[in-house]
Amino acid sequence: MQKKIAVLPGDGIGTEVTRGAVEILKAVADRYGHEFQFNYGLIGGTAIDKTGHPLPEETVTLCKDSDAVLLGAVGGPKWDHNPPHLRPEKGLLSIRKHLSLYANLRPISFYASLSEASPLRKEVIQDADFVIVRELTGGLYFGKPSGRRVEDGQETVVDTLVYHRYEIKRIIELAFTLAEKRRGKVTSVDKANVLESSRMWREVAEEVSKDFPAVELEHMLVDNAAMQLIRNPRQFDVVVTENMFGDILSDEASVLTGSLGMLPSASISSEGPNLYEPIHGSAPDIAGQNKANPIAAILSAASMLRNSFSLEEEAKAVEAAVESVLEAGYRTADLAGGRTKSLTTEQMTEEIKISMLGDEAIS
Ligand code: NAD
Ligand code: IPM
Ligand code: MN
Repeated sequence: MQKKIAVLPGDGIGTEVTRGAVEILKAVADRYGHEFQFNYGLIGGTAIDKTGHPLPEETVTLCKDSDAVLLGAVGGPKWDHNPPHLRPEKGLLSIRKHLSLYANLRPISFYASLSEASPLRKEVIQDADFVIVRELTGGLYFGKPSGRRVEDGQETVVDTLVYHRYEIKRIIELAFTLAEKRRGKVTSVDKANVLESSRMWREVAEEVSKDFPAVELEHMLVDNAAMQLIRNPRQFDVVVTENMFGDILSDEASVLTGSLGMLPSASISSEGPNLYEPIHGSAPDIAGQNKANPIAAILSAASMLRNSFSLEEEAKAVEAAVESVLEAGYRTADLAGGRTKSLTTEQMTEEIKISMLGDEAIS
């Protein structure tokens, strides 16, 4: 199979973990006889420094001309005081809009070998397995007006939360479709006791649920959901929610797996290539130290193999390799819990690669 993959490493550990994911994709190509062409593009702070723009036009063209996009992370203190249109994060938000990436799937699974790495008790997190379906191109992130102004002599700031009914409908439909193939339960998370947008969200969820009689729908207020996620995560199967709630809840949920560095994501497009990225950021506190956990990025690459290229066997081989190195006790610093000996980003990538290629030697 021949595929064109756009790679946008971005900033900070984004470049380090993306290198790991590309290594693994190359190993997959070698082992299974595929041809993956990797074409690199600029995004984020690095793009601002080199081109004056967080998302250069060439990057958009490159992505649209690719079969899938792999992204690292953007941002860093260097650009934190830039004006809004010149922030690295603006590049990420813009690529999501340009590629119509309306749904961000963030699966959370329990790894038995990592139960010690989570601050939560094993009996709480054991067998947790759910996916957060985060709306990605609407809500507070994109609503207009947004900005500062002086009103009646007072310094004033406004952010606007906008959703069109069709945007709510398509994300909720996706959640139900996923739930049908999983354990048949959708938890729709909102703030319907306060926000009108949440009341429409609830209404649409009820409507959509009529087309999926085999799927149970439950509504949950977001503050309660934040608590339930760590009190009893096993109750969830598919969690669907708006953009900002999904952002916050998924970082929280990563604690179940032991580290933010474990969580991959797939951003699904309504028209073009999908984009795959770890949910974590550029981690300025550890950037440039070869310490970052590459697993979130590597599992994002596995998700690309499955969801964009329908390469199920290859995706499973990557996931199995990750599991087996964890079972063998290999840990990057974030998972090592103070153990003196931990692996670098490059060593962890290498172990995963060896584990994957080793399988072939045996079979
Ligand atoms: P962060 O996700 O970068 O880091 C939070 C904490 O988790 C840090 O202590 C970091 O060291 C740790 N961490 C994250 N990923 C890790 C990994 N793979 N391995 C080991 N440890 C890891 O969040 P932050 O510090 O709040 O934000 C830093 C910058 O990243 C900001 O500029 C923010 O805007 C940006 N950001 C970007 C994205 C993205 O590109 N998708 C996501 C979140 C934050
Ligand atoms: C994420 C990040 C982004 C978001 C930021 C960097 C714009 O936190 O991908 O989760 O909030 O969507
Ligand atoms: Mn986030």
